[in-house]
Amino acid sequence: MRITITGTPGTGKSTVAKLLAERLKLPLFELSRLVREEKLYSELDDERNALVVDPEKLKSYFENRNAFIAEGLVAHLIPADLLVILRASPETVRKRLAPRNYPPAKVEENVEAERFAVIATEALENPLAERVIHIDTTNRIPEQVAELIERAVKGEEIFEDVDWLETEGNSG
Ligand SMILES: Nc1ncnc2c1ncn2[C@@H]1O[C@H](COP(=O)(O)OP(=O)(O)O)[C@@H](O)[C@H]1O
Ligand SMILES: [Mg+2]
Repeated sequence: MRITITGTPGTGKSTVAKLLAERLKLPLFELSRLVREEKLYSELDDERNALVVDPEKLKSYFENRNAFIAEGLVAHLIPADLLVILRASPETVRKRLAPRNYPPAKVEENVEAERFAVIATEALENPLAERVIHIDTTNRIPEQVAELIERAVKGEEIFEDVDWLETEGNSG
């Protein structure tokens, strides 16, 4: 089983991926680290001081692997059996990112990216997975999110509706 977990920073990818890897006994790849260590990038984005992932290098790294969990905000660029898109209300993203000591502009960039579903849209426009599930983590603890993903692994279809533009003003 090839499982990819994508979402805006703060949606809980790393936390839930760790739980899931333990439950399913699958090797876990944290993509931000992998991209750096395996040099799966094409350039450095100076403005953000971030590496720009090379989608072809990323794909070829996983080409001959058929049992893994890969989590990160580029996970949807990897062909998989199951793609998990995690969402969280913009307020929740802001709260979860607070302890990271990011510059305020970086926190707000992620809050807005979640509000406008940037990653979810990218992932849904050109899905590289056989199945896609979409989970709102706002009012769930990580164990509950992992539980839901496990149900999807067993075959359940899960596609939760979220619309952060419509619920604006609701602190979530
Ligand atoms: N479902 C959840 N409910 C509450 N807090 C969560 C949940 N998932 C993650 N967190 C917390 O939010 C923060 C960001 O989670 P993390 O897994 O690092 O997100 P990501 O990897 O998507 O950036 C962490 O402090 C984590 O403990
Ligand atoms: Mg993470």
